[in-house]
Amino acid sequence: MEIATLLNLGCFVLCFLFSQNGTASGNSQLPVATKVWWTSINFKTILEWEPKPSGYAYTVEFFGKKTDVQKSPRCIKIQTTECDLTSFLLNLTDSYTAHVISEPIETVDKTEEYPYTRSDKFTPYKDTKIGQPTFKIEENEAKNKIKLLIEAPLSSIRGPNNTFLSIQEIFKKDLEYVSYYRKASSTGKKEAKSKTNEIDVPVDRGESYCFNVHIVIPSRTDENQQSQESATHCSHSEKPFYEEYGIGVLVGLILAPVLLLVAIITCVCCCRRKKNANKEANSPDGVPLKGV
Ligand SMILES: *[C@@H]1O[C@H](CO)[C@@H](O)[C@H](O)[C@H]1NC(C)=O
Ligand SMILES: *[C@@H]1O[C@H](CO)[C@@H](O)[C@H](O)[C@H]1NC(C)=O
Repeated sequence: MEIATLLNLGCFVLCFLFSQNGTASGNSQLPVATKVWWTSINFKTILEWEPKPSGYAYTVEFFGKKTDVQKSPRCIKIQTTECDLTSFLLNLTDSYTAHVISEPIETVDKTEEYPYTRSDKFTPYKDTKIGQPTFKIEENEAKNKIKLLIEAPLSSIRGPNNTFLSIQEIFKKDLEYVSYYRKASSTGKKEAKSKTNEIDVPVDRGESYCFNVHIVIPSRTDENQQSQESATHCSHSEKPFYEEYGIGVLVGLILAPVLLLVAIITCVCCCRRKKNANKEANSPDGVPLKGV
């Protein structure tokens, strides 16, 4: 009886597998990527998609308006869900489309068209995210001007001498640097801009200022114009600490540990008192203590 059931089951599984095989050769049955997207920063560009394949593989094919259909040798019949196309998208102003093709793992018939999912268009020059710039602060001798010396991040694109080009070398005149800055003692922000990698900011002598910097590409659409923001750097002030931040901050710094101690002591006392109160409350009805 049980053996018969097993045999039936085995037969059923076999039939199921055969029927799957049968339909697989008509490849409309292969699952396709449900979602395909580009992630790109400083011209390092990766095509990603979902889901992880099971029983089939993906091949990526891409082309631009001025770029013929190509494949990356690293992205043929892969079982992963990403493909680094950085070294192929070399016409930065071309507009690329990729196809994520679902293929059977073993090649059956090369003439067959396999199903695929198409990506959105991607133009490196317009679409890659720009990373954080870095910068240094230089004060002039009169202490009434600060110069920001900015360095754009490196891109993943190699120049003629095989070194990586910086973002500035790629965008050239299409790029500007913007700094938002404020006096350390206030919250009012100001803006200063430059087409070169140096920004001069007039300052009040003796005050400390805080700066951050980003790159802007005005020719791009609004949501894509600004780079990631740099870290914030502040200039040193010559005023004594308490004058800059006010007596309040200083007093606060001294008082804080004292207040903390008072709070802890109060808390401990309260807890003790509560415990005692609980004991007193429990003992008169005394059920859990005396009842046993
Ligand atoms: C790069 O692509 C742009 C836009 O499609 C095209 O105008 C330009 O001629 C291409 N450059 C080269 C060198 O193919
Ligand atoms: C390589 O090229 C870059 C940009 O074109 C340039 O800034 C750099 O000085 C060059 N380096 C060498 C070693 O020639």
